[in-house]
Amino acid sequence: MKSSKYSTFEANFAVARKIASQKIENFKERKANGELLNDFEKNSYAGLAIDRYLSSAGEEGALEEEDVGEIIMVALIAALDTTSAMLNWCIVHLAMNPNVQEELFKEISSNITAEGNLTADYFSKSNSAYLNAVLRENHRITPPIALNLTKENVTGEIEIHDVTLPKQSMVVLDTRSLGMDPNVVKDPDTFDPSRWFDEEQVKGRKGTSAEVLDHPLYREPFSAGARKCPGSRVANYEAKVMLSQLVLDWKISLASDDQKIESWRDVPYFNGLTVQPTVPELSFEKRH
Ligand code: HEM
Repeated sequence: MKSSKYSTFEANFAVARKIASQKIENFKERKANGELLNDFEKNSYAGLAIDRYLSSAGEEGALEEEDVGEIIMVALIAALDTTSAMLNWCIVHLAMNPNVQEELFKEISSNITAEGNLTADYFSKSNSAYLNAVLRENHRITPPIALNLTKENVTGEIEIHDVTLPKQSMVVLDTRSLGMDPNVVKDPDTFDPSRWFDEEQVKGRKGTSAEVLDHPLYREPFSAGARKCPGSRVANYEAKVMLSQLVLDWKISLASDDQKIESWRDVPYFNGLTVQPTVPELSFEKRH
């Protein structure tokens, strides 16, 4: 059975697939002609996957060229829209919440070298508590994928809160409605990272219905178990490094008041495979 929404998704996916396969063809051609631009391209996932394919061609069990293209495509689709959705929303929230942005700037700037550069040390958990809290708050209000955990109940009938889930039910953790439920979160529309690093707040949730917010399965947008996102660590570090460098270099704000954006709810977004905002016009003021 195909709903009209699914048909739209399928048609759009076919377009994305076509664009991706053209990009891969173009990449393969440039690689074969020795025209890759730099080490970044040469050592990229696609570059190395093609090398592995070429060195194993003809061996038993080796992949076909077409399979390599398919694998690169899945990796690109899974990696790009998701990471950009996460970063775009973070930038929107920081632009709309100058106090939060200032607090983040303070944390980052007190963790840089004398020359003003970021180092790996900042990204240890204890040094970047506020940055982590910003990412968690972003995940609560605007997760890049609204349904981040899908599991099949394979063991047998399970009863949870007087509801019986028959064997083989598909169960989805709906991240968005949990984190935006006013019975669980006070002022759910307010972007307030202190919910996550303030020990008092975390302690205060213990033994209440809000305790679920601190459950490991809710913490991140990458699902869990066998099908957990294999790119989660790359995605997390990628987002942290990009966001930190951006906030270190620029003060970001909404470009004008004409955009009528008073709450994140005024920002239009596309709810597809990922939840992608239409980023309002922003203004960037150099910090130093
Ligand atoms: C913020 C960024 C990202 C988010 C929110 C995200 C989220 C997810 C989620 C929720 C799944 C599980 C889907 C399911 O239930 O089947 C998944 C799977 C996957 N992700 Fe990510 N992802 C991100 C970034 C990346 C990156 C950077 C890569 C690659 C470098 C990647 C590669 C994949 C792949 C290949 C799968 C399929 C795994 C499988 O089915 O075995 N993702 N991702």
